[in-house]
This record gives sequence, C-alpha cells and structure tokens, in this order.
Amino acid sequence: MLERRPLCSYNDTGYDVVAAVQSARVPLFSVGGGGFAGRLFGSCDGAAVVNAIETKDLSKIYKDFWGRPRVKALNSLNLTVRQGEVFGLLGPNGSGKTTTTKLLLGLIFPTSGQAYVLGKPAGDVATKARIGFLPEESYLYRFLNAEETLDFYGRLFKIPKKKRREKIDQLIEMVGLTDARKRPLKEYSKGMTRRIGLAQALINDPDVIFLDEPTSGLDPIGTREVKNLIIDLRKKGKTVLLCSHLLADVEEVCDRIALLVNGHLRKLGEVKELLSDKDALQFTVKKPPSDARRRIEKLVAEMGASLESVQNPVETLEELFLEVVRREQERKSQAKTKL
Ligand SMILES: Nc1ncnc2c1ncn2[C@@H]1O[C@H](COP(=O)(O)OP(=O)(O)O)[C@@H](O)[C@H]1O
Ligand SMILES: [Mg+2]
Repeated sequence: MLERRPLCSYNDTGYDVVAAVQSARVPLFSVGGGGFAGRLFGSCDGAAVVNAIETKDLSKIYKDFWGRPRVKALNSLNLTVRQGEVFGLLGPNGSGKTTTTKLLLGLIFPTSGQAYVLGKPAGDVATKARIGFLPEESYLYRFLNAEETLDFYGRLFKIPKKKRREKIDQLIEMVGLTDARKRPLKEYSKGMTRRIGLAQALINDPDVIFLDEPTSGLDPIGTREVKNLIIDLRKKGKTVLLCSHLLADVEEVCDRIALLVNGHLRKLGEVKELLSDKDALQFTVKKPPSDARRRIEKLVAEMGASLESVQNPVETLEELFLEVVRREQERKSQAKTKL
C-alpha cells in the first residue's frame, strides 16, 4: 500500500512500517550477537575499563561463488582502541580498511578471529544503539530533505519527538546544512551528501563512531569542517575510528594510527611518535638578528654537531587556501554592507 508514496508523506504508522522493513534489510540494526559477558580490562588504578574496539587475530577471506578463497582481505589483525580515542585506520585502496569496519559492525563475518565493540562481540544488538556509522558511500533516500532524512533515522532509534526535533536542528547546524535543510538530497553535491551522512551517523548520540573516508569528495573547506567536527567529538569523549587514505587528515586529528597494507598491519602507534625524528632538533626563532645564522652555525659546530637546514617556516597549502577563501568572503560581505 505504502510502497509507491514518497516517504515525506507518511504518517507515524507509515514510518514505523518503513522503519521495520529498513531494520530487516540493514544488518546494522538487526544482526544479533548473543549473550556474551563483556570484555573487561584492568586500568592502572585497578578499575575495570572496557576497550572501545578490540580485534584478536581477525582475518577475512572473501570467497567466490563456488566457495573458493578469492581475496585475502585481512590477515590476523590485532588492534585495541581505547574509549575516547580518535584512531586512524590508514592504508592505500584495497588494504582492508572497509573490511575491518564492516567486521566490527557485524555487517560481514570473519573467516577467523574475533572482533569486539564496547566489550561485546561485533554485531551485538544492544551495542549497535551506541554505534554511529558513516559508510564509504551513503545510500540515503533521494526524495527526502535533510530534516526528513534525520527524522527518519531518529525514528528508527525511537528517539522521542521533542528530543528528535532538537537533535535534528543541532546536527543540521553542526554540519553546515541550515540553508539546504528543505532541499531534497537528490539536489545535493557530493560534499553536502557527505555532511548529511555524517549527521545521520550521529543522530543516536553514539559513543563509538566509524567514519569510512569521511572527507572523500569534500573541498578543503569541507575537509577542514569535518576535521574540526572530529576534534569536537573527541572533546565530548567519543571514540572515533577514522578510515582514510588521505594522510594529512589522519595526521592532524588522530591520536594513534594503524597502517594497513594488503590486509597486514604494518605500523601501529602514536602519530607524533611515529613521525618524530629522534636524532634531530628543530627550532623556530622569531625576529632573529641579521647575523643569527652565522652565530648559530658557530655554536652548533662547537657542539660537534652539524646544521642540517635553515629556512623560513612555510604555511601548509591548506592554511594558504583557507586564508585566501576567508579573505575573499570578507571582501564580499564588506562590499555587500556598503551597497
Ligand atoms: N565483497 C567483496 N568480495 C570480494 N572481494 C572484496 C569484497 N570487498 C572487498 N574485497 C577485496 O578485499 C580487499 C580489501 O578491500 P577493502 O576492505 O574495501 O579495502 P579499503 O577499504 O582499504 O580500500 C580488496 O582487495 C578488495 O578488492
Ligand atoms: Mg574502503
């Protein structure tokens, strides 16, 4: 009866029917985990702490139609992500990032090994209510606008009407879609679609958020906003698993990273630790005197060390880009007020 009508015309019952169908189709809301006692780990003060994410020898081999092993996508992955951490899963295309995310969400099943989210086996139904997920490609209803989309997902999580309204306003503002909130998603650009996807991933105020290539298709301003959003999520104590092949994004916002190559974990650690060169020191001197270089070279030679590079600090291309765009917008708004 309802299937040919646009979702925006549905009443409460109609929404509930669609929600039920959606739940049945989307494993994120439906796959069961089973009674598991939960995985607790000791903290230094003796209190029990649950890791946000943990994998033990997690492996995935995709099989072909005849059940023959086809692609070894993930190889014995051992990973622990603490609560409140922004963790980057980094690697070239095809390295196993999306596979890891899907295994942790219970959307696909491992060939061997275990995956836990918030102490429960991946796929645990109750835990799913505490998880947010932005897939690599968001499959949203093209004929709904931003408000209706978030309202639909809010209903799936059974968020009461008043709270849902507040949350929708807050999220639309947070992802910068206030002006486009009434436009159907089919008119959205790639960047806008990414933003509404992000808002949808946050509708249930999740504790653990999986973001698969969140900045793909975004311009530098959109990318900056998403990065700021992730930083805000960390401030709120949320755990974020960020999959990306864009090194600059990961470098800036992640506390720790894992580097995957061909399904193998090749590096794991704190970003700063992994990137710092322990054999060298770098100074930035503000307003140096004209003979600063000669005097410092002399000092360094006296220490028996060598001066490897002397240069003016440079901005990143991102900083330059944002500055130019900001100035242009300022110029425009000044011209407007003069009119
Ligand atoms: N459904 C699938 N069936 C067969 N092979 C797959 C499937 N999904 C992914 N793969 C393969 O698994 C490997 C890892 O893929 P994926 O996890 O998507 O990598 P990433 O997200 O890092 O780009 C790739 O070689 C990919 O082709
Ligand atoms: Mg991927």
